[in-house]
Amino acid sequence: MELNDFNKKREEYAEEFENYARVYFSRKFDTEQTLFEAMKYSFFAGGKRVRPVLMLAAADFFGAPKDRVMPYALALECIHTYSLIHDDLPAMDNDDYRRGKLTNHKVFGEAIAVLAGDALLNLAFSIAAEEATRHSDKASCECMRFLADFAGFEGMIGGQAADVLSEISKSKNEDLLYFIEKNKTAKLLTLPFLLPCILACGDRDLAINIGLKVGVQFQIIDDILDVESSLAVLGKSVGKDAESDKLTFVNLFGVKRAKERAEQLYAEVADLLSGYENSGFLLAYAKALKDRIF
Ligand code: IPE
Ligand code: IPE
Ligand code: MG
Ligand code: MG
Ligand code: MG
Repeated sequence: MELNDFNKKREEYAEEFENYARVYFSRKFDTEQTLFEAMKYSFFAGGKRVRPVLMLAAADFFGAPKDRVMPYALALECIHTYSLIHDDLPAMDNDDYRRGKLTNHKVFGEAIAVLAGDALLNLAFSIAAEEATRHSDKASCECMRFLADFAGFEGMIGGQAADVLSEISKSKNEDLLYFIEKNKTAKLLTLPFLLPCILACGDRDLAINIGLKVGVQFQIIDDILDVESSLAVLGKSVGKDAESDKLTFVNLFGVKRAKERAEQLYAEVADLLSGYENSGFLLAYAKALKDRIF
């Protein structure tokens, strides 16, 4: 896919999502309250919207209707945003900047930041439950179940626990590293492929396989950027992983091997997608995430 066409399509998906989210939030929160302000502050702080864009693109790839997928894109971005608010707390990574702005707890205080995260998590399941009620079908219930599992102790939360414990672990090995990458990051990045696939009755193994590879690749690139990029470019503090002695691919094997591993994962994704003629955007997006061209 030509870079121009890719960028246009990516902006289109992102804009569709942004409009949907703005309408949803403005209907839901029609009064001013500190908690709502804190939720909206992080949600609309300028994230890249990687997961919603991937989900809309995967909907086109698997053939799921957009209106069935959009609520899950919103639910997932709520979960992702909550995970970042909590990830930045002093008890976790203790960061001051996120999405180019002060972190939630720096603006609203720790108690409200914890609660804003909690509230975004509950909101995600309210959105998914509304969908299940609207359609009363097995696919909607399964989507809700995968959202819960991949965000929970067998997914993002489990990975985050292993990540913070890795700071003081004596056995920093490759198995534990893969457990962290897969669970804290790749599980949530699998949902953009898996949920549209479920709604379109597609090949779930293919969706999970692609999602895990794209997700691990994404975390490895994030770890490289923590060494090579800057606060001005990323909108978040850098140099933190080495400082906290985190178990990352970069800290275990160095930047050069991390780049090779990201290339290898991208090649595996390309291989999985190669037999499908409508996979151009997804392939270009996986490449853009590897090269971080936006
Ligand atoms: C950051 O995710 C956390 C990781 C999983 C590495 P993103 O890089 O998608 O963050 P935003 O949404 O653009 O802020
Ligand atoms: C975070 O990983 C993954 C989450 C589940 C939030 P990092 O701690 O490396 O993410 P950043 O670098 O703070 O965005
Ligand atoms: Mg972290
Ligand atoms: Mg962090
Ligand atoms: Mg990081």
